[in-house]
Amino acid sequence: MTYSRLAGTGGYLPEKVLTNAELEKMVDTTDAWIRERTGIHKRHVAADDETTCDLAEHAARRAIEAAALNAGEIDLIIVATTTPDQIFPSTACLLQQRLDIHGCPAFDVQAVCTGFIYALGIADKFIRAGSARNALVIGAETLSRIVDWTDRKTCVLFGDGAGAVVLQASATPGILSTHLHADGQYGALLQVPTGVSKRATEDGDSYPYMEMQGNEIFKIAVNTLGRIVDETLAANDMTQADVDWLVPHQANQRIIAATAKKLKLPEDHVVMTVQEHGNTSAASVPLALDVAIRDGRIRRGETVLLEAFGGGLTWGSALLRY
Ligand code: ACO
Repeated sequence: MTYSRLAGTGGYLPEKVLTNAELEKMVDTTDAWIRERTGIHKRHVAADDETTCDLAEHAARRAIEAAALNAGEIDLIIVATTTPDQIFPSTACLLQQRLDIHGCPAFDVQAVCTGFIYALGIADKFIRAGSARNALVIGAETLSRIVDWTDRKTCVLFGDGAGAVVLQASATPGILSTHLHADGQYGALLQVPTGVSKRATEDGDSYPYMEMQGNEIFKIAVNTLGRIVDETLAANDMTQADVDWLVPHQANQRIIAATAKKLKLPEDHVVMTVQEHGNTSAASVPLALDVAIRDGRIRRGETVLLEAFGGGLTWGSALLRY
């Protein structure tokens, strides 16, 4: 039996920082409101000439190095992103070229904030099926490009970044299980209403900006993430006590706290990086995972629950033994 295990991680945040104090000058908001309602202190914003692929490349190179591999040994590339550089080629193909890798499958996955969990689930299945041995799985976003910087309800929440992992074939797990879900009936609660095929909204607004009914999303997220914790533990015949670490999607400190409560996990076993970079969508889980592995909190042999929730609506989890 072949499993997949985490061989290396990497993360990257663009240099430019946008603080809550700076946002106070742009929209009618306060540092106190943003901290209290979301936990966010600042976010990173890509430079004008910096793209999602640029961020992905930094994170990918760090993950490949941490896995002690050469780029040429990578035989699958999946990039989870909602903000690809171009309509096509996919960001995964652009990245493949940057890394001078040729021939292996490379494709993007679009599941908004759950994108990395989807990509991880797919890569795990490739490896278990014997179709790949060293998969590069990335979440990378330049959400700043689809944020309406005049809308205080959304612009304070999001940021840019990239996180990456190398998943490697192994005789022992690794990834214990992945759980992927979607329900399109709630799609309009969190959306960019225009795109390639649908060019303009009914009111004629043609620029693609994010719209969110935050309050509704908040309630659904808390309930859904509670359910997926139960589903994940049941699938592995485990209880809350078996989980050492929660690495959640970094959207809102209060949503994270609710999931941690469900798991009865003390705060110091929950990896929280949302204060540093806001909601970076598909990049958020691998960014947080990378931080906690590099600073030594998550150690080999420990059990880690990853979860995410986002537009679609989509949600998912992965349980792994590091
Ligand atoms: N500064 C000051 N006041 C604000 C701001 C702001 N930046 N934004 C909203 N407000 C006001 C509202 O206008 C409202 O005022 P009113 O009562 O006079 O109408 C008041 O604050 C409360 O607004 P709510 O929306 O009820 O605030 P809430 O406590 O729900 O917090 C938030 C809003 C932070 C957006 C929260 O609902 C949330 O985090 N939602 C979930 C976001 C999420 O997880 N999304 C999923 C992933 S994202 C993805 O997939 C791309």
